Amino acid sequence: MNNYEFITLEGIEGVGKSTAIGVLSQVLQDKGRDVVITREPGGTAIGEKVRDILLSTQNGEMSALSELFLLLAARAQHLAEVVSPALIAGKCVICDRFFDATFAYQGAGRGLDTSIINDATGLISPFFLPTLTFLLDAPVEVGFKRIETRAETDRFEEQNKAFFKRVRASYLNRAQQEPHRFVVIDASQSLGEVTHKIELTLNEKFGD
Ligand code: TMP
Repeated sequence: MNNYEFITLEGIEGVGKSTAIGVLSQVLQDKGRDVVITREPGGTAIGEKVRDILLSTQNGEMSALSELFLLLAARAQHLAEVVSPALIAGKCVICDRFFDATFAYQGAGRGLDTSIINDATGLISPFFLPTLTFLLDAPVEVGFKRIETRAETDRFEEQNKAFFKRVRASYLNRAQQEPHRFVVIDASQSLGEVTHKIELTLNEKFGD
């Protein structure tokens, strides 16, 4: 049994993570938790600068390995500056994406070998692992419809459907491998149904 609460949210683009984070945080605050909301890549001043590099469409020539190490540099800073201190202080951390995204996007999406990602991620996240991960899952077509309405797309959102199909399959596979950590939510349902499932899960795991 872990005595810290580190919750992550994952899913392909357009599945409604931001809305879900708002619900999660409200439910946990109602349960008396001191909640810290953060994200990857980002969450710190240094990490947000790295995020800008990663998402900029001007950096189309970035290699997969370079992408991996930029993400991990941002993560190392994020763990040291935000996540670890908050968990040590007994706060509940909600993080928009964490290491599952690295296996899904850089592994399945970009095609980097899993052993490289395992070794590299293992170097910087040995102490605190997520205790609960919500995977918001929807067919790629559903996510694409939602991102089509955005004014600008970033370097990841510019990838094709085949890329996101591999990412989605990897997430689902990881969820299947770790059923105790993952809760998979059908994100093509209505917002009310998604919210209800989040509330049910939190009541089950953290008490009414
Ligand atoms: P966001 O827009 O959902 O915050 O995520 C930014 C992008 O970063 C998203 O397209 C996925 C990507 N990403 C990775 O490729 N690998 C990672 O490890 C993380 C944390 C994010």
